[in-house]
Amino acid sequence: MSLLSGKKILLGISGGIAAYKTPLLVRELVKNGAEVKVVMTPSAKDFVTPLTIATLSKNPVLSTFTATDQDNPLWNDHVELGLWADAFLVAPATSNTLSAMAQGRCNNLLLAVYLSAKCPVFIAPAMDLDMFAHPSNQKNMETLTSYGNKVLPVGEGFLASGLEGKGRMLEPETIVTHLIDFFNPNLPLKNKKILITAGPTYEAIDPVRFIGNHASGKMGFALAEVAAQLGAEVTLISGPTSEKIEYPTIKVEKVVSAKAMFEAVKNSYSQADIAIAAAAVADYKPEVEAEQKIKKKTDQVTLNLVPTQDILAYMGANKKKQYLLGFALETENELDNAKGKLERKNLDGIVLNSLQDSGAGFSVSTNKITFIHADKSIQTFPLQSKYACAQAIFDQILPHDT
Ligand code: CTP
Repeated sequence: MSLLSGKKILLGISGGIAAYKTPLLVRELVKNGAEVKVVMTPSAKDFVTPLTIATLSKNPVLSTFTATDQDNPLWNDHVELGLWADAFLVAPATSNTLSAMAQGRCNNLLLAVYLSAKCPVFIAPAMDLDMFAHPSNQKNMETLTSYGNKVLPVGEGFLASGLEGKGRMLEPETIVTHLIDFFNPNLPLKNKKILITAGPTYEAIDPVRFIGNHASGKMGFALAEVAAQLGAEVTLISGPTSEKIEYPTIKVEKVVSAKAMFEAVKNSYSQADIAIAAAAVADYKPEVEAEQKIKKKTDQVTLNLVPTQDILAYMGANKKKQYLLGFALETENELDNAKGKLERKNLDGIVLNSLQDSGAGFSVSTNKITFIHADKSIQTFPLQSKYACAQAIFDQILPHDT
């Protein structure tokens, strides 16, 4: 499920510091299935190179009215570009570009494309806070909105000037979410609450040491991202990981131990419509956590371990309206073990991954999954990115979701 699949997005980059984020924006559009072409103003090239953008978009970047081919000028057809696009996104839109667009000026290719485009136009302004607040910029944005363009909000925070306030270009992921919302007005998970656990847990031995595992959190974070794109309200409860969530709409709760993860899950579970346990929760923890660092001894040391709470089993036992999905990471008897967990923990589905498969497992960004439904029907998938796995998982859940 790629939410911009088959959509032709024309990106217009104007020359502001926020242009440094446009490679990520192009990547995010492509990741969601869009075909991307890019026009840049001449000054945008001071901030990001056409080579980077052309490589990521897999299309040549245009920035002048003409190109040269064997000494002869060729016309870069702005009319055709405008007609090609399903949406024209101007990001970042600088003060200068906003004012030129509002007045119908046409002194670069981006502006010519804008004036001849018949598709919806999205504008992501980016400028310093006082420039953004200036009445002339506010007026230009009102004018552009009155012409039917969709002027996106700006973000708040650190600005390149060193000042802090309103004026930042929206994060690439958020801009893409606006496009996804536009092209998919009936997102399948709109108004649904999703709870996801991710990452490892660390069980303290003493103030310095812990018992942990190799889980990276990548799978759970990819699930959170896809769920947010499908319109869900996501709570992501994550153990220690270096993964980052860029979506401002995803609520992230960081925890360390299985006990803390369990407490966080208990707070959110009753309101969830779908709960997914992707965390690699430690099954055991030290019986006692030493208050001081355990000093080295010459003889053997024994660590007494006691079980942690099985969080997924708790969710299964207390299931009401929720669709409940678990994970099973196995090294042998994979299908039987996963089916056993599905039944024992009262799940609606389980995702099996085997450490026997190369490219699947902990710290890699790919995975090979098998989805087992409660009725024991099975769907297998090839080795693919964890993001694509997350999309495949929601394709399986959606027809069964409450
Ligand atoms: N899980 C959990 N809490 C635990 C242990 C596991 O929520 N204390 C969840 C995991 O997030 C996963 C599922 O249970 O969705 C299965 O985890 P896994 O480690 O594969 O299985 P276990 O139940 O721990 O059994 P075993 O270690 O014997 O394979």
